[in-house]
Amino acid sequence: MKRIAIFASGTGSNARKIVEYFKDHPKIEVSLIVSNNKEAKVLDMAHRHNIPTMILNKALLKDRDYILEKFSIFPIDFIVLAGFLLLVPKYLVDAFPKNIVNIHPALLPKYGGKGMYGMNVHKAVKDSGERETGITIHYVNEHYDEGGIIFQASCPVLPEDSPETIAKNVLKLEHEFFAKTIENVLLD
Ligand code: GAR
Repeated sequence: MKRIAIFASGTGSNARKIVEYFKDHPKIEVSLIVSNNKEAKVLDMAHRHNIPTMILNKALLKDRDYILEKFSIFPIDFIVLAGFLLLVPKYLVDAFPKNIVNIHPALLPKYGGKGMYGMNVHKAVKDSGERETGITIHYVNEHYDEGGIIFQASCPVLPEDSPETIAKNVLKLEHEFFAKTIENVLLD
């Protein structure tokens, strides 16, 4: 079994899709959900599915010994960032080489980097008059949105689309492709 930890800060709709996709999977399971926000809806979803959860603040995330010990207890093979807003520390990148992936709601390298998350991304896409946007699934390194790209999919941006419409279309792509891409990476 490959054991995934999903890191998420908010609603967790991607996390939910991933949990549902790997329920009853013969080789992959979601064994932990980590959040930096104790109010995050993703935690309710985890409880409904009986998946253990862990709350981390910025300081704990920086505590190498604490985190690596916890992850060895579970144990964790692979980390998925699904709407996780804190920077992943270098020790964690080093401890899980090529085993941390993130989803970004735009076509990287455009509209990435610090502060580029959620609606900020879609507003920037709209303000720049882009004709298309999409999703990027990529390996994680110690810089925001800079690791090697694994998969991209795009959708058109129509002149009349609001940032909210763009967000909806992008989220649909995320739900369609994220879990499958994780499966491809893990079973490669
Ligand atoms: C997703 O659109 C994801 O791409 C984005 O946060 C959203 C989380 O939605 N991530 C980033 O912007 C990271 N830079 P969800 O909580 O419903 O899965």
